[in-house]
Amino acid sequence: MVITVPTQARRHSGPRPINLNKDIPQVLRLLELVFGASVDVDGRQLLTGSASLGQQPAFIWRLNPAASRLALGYVWEIDGRIIGNATVLTTETAGRYLVVNVAVHPDYRRQGIARRLMQLIADLVRSQNGREILLQVVKENVAARNLYRSLDYTIIGNMTAWYTASSRLRSIEPANNGSGSGPHIRELRPQEWRAAYRLDQASLHPDLNWPKMLPSDAYRTGFWRALANFFNGRKIETWVTTNTNNQLVGLGSILSEWGRSHQAIIRIHPVWYGQLERPLLAKLIRRLYYLPRRNVRIDHPDNDEVMNKLLAEANFQPRRTLTHMRLDINKTS
Ligand SMILES: CC(C)(COP(=O)(O)OP(=O)(O)OC[C@H]1O[C@@H](n2cnc3c(N)ncnc32)[C@H](O)[C@@H]1OP(=O)(O)O)[C@@H](O)C(=O)NCCC(=O)NCCS
Repeated sequence: MVITVPTQARRHSGPRPINLNKDIPQVLRLLELVFGASVDVDGRQLLTGSASLGQQPAFIWRLNPAASRLALGYVWEIDGRIIGNATVLTTETAGRYLVVNVAVHPDYRRQGIARRLMQLIADLVRSQNGREILLQVVKENVAARNLYRSLDYTIIGNMTAWYTASSRLRSIEPANNGSGSGPHIRELRPQEWRAAYRLDQASLHPDLNWPKMLPSDAYRTGFWRALANFFNGRKIETWVTTNTNNQLVGLGSILSEWGRSHQAIIRIHPVWYGQLERPLLAKLIRRLYYLPRRNVRIDHPDNDEVMNKLLAEANFQPRRTLTHMRLDINKTS
């Protein structure tokens, strides 16, 4: 007598492209397990509803802009269970791709899963004629940094996010010598928007702007922009200082939007490093006293000792430092 036993269809194990229709709930659970509280804002929005994920039809997820951020990339599946993920994001700049949400379940680490997922992503980007892949990693995350270094990613720089509440800001002297006055600081003039962009580019590596590169008209003002800002509850003020030839050499800017921290930046031309940070920060702090009371955030390269001291003096606290890394696709095979 021959007994036949129905065979179960073999379930896929290994890497495969993410399938937005069926993988989202599992990928979100993996990201929640791996990143927990440190998941980014979009991720948190998604995770908030994760309890009901299984019941939601796929087309609802497809409408969710945060879910669509997971649409391109690879997962690692073992017997129907997703235990690894890496997501690619396209950007507005041709050839420039970002990698986010690199995560492997703790029970499956050190088996080469993340490395393989990252290699597949590099192949995908290469097949799309991509030029570079960028990513951010918490500076202290040795495992991930080793992983990326072993795949030929190089470090562009480290950016520290500094925070304080407006109410806790301490004013600082504009001049080091205690004379009370520093260089002349004035508002950026409308016709200087190109010069301001050039100064920004000279002062900060363009790829340290995340996730978007700085648009070339970032400092442009004018009626339509003012109108759009008004309707978006956004206000931007930019203060500059010039050399004797009236060229911009230092710039400080505050972006204020409803419901968000004030975001300040300081950019100094390399020739003037160390000389203009204090007066510009002093100016921004004076301006912040007039703006609505909120948190204030400044992102700045972590190796700038002058700024680090000044920010501490003004009562900012460093919250976290992110290492920005880059893979030049043309240099890898
Ligand atoms: C980082 C992470 C994705 C690595 O996943 P993984 O599948 O274990 O990594 P791999 O097995 O492919 O390791 C590849 C290389 O990365 C490095 N690496 C991985 N884990 C490491 C660790 N714990 N310590 C030091 N180096 C490590 C090693 O160079 C390793 O090569 P080796 O095993 O030949 O020495 C995983 O630890 C993880 O999910 N961490 C939490 C989430 C996270 O930090 N994601 C990155 C966000 S930017």
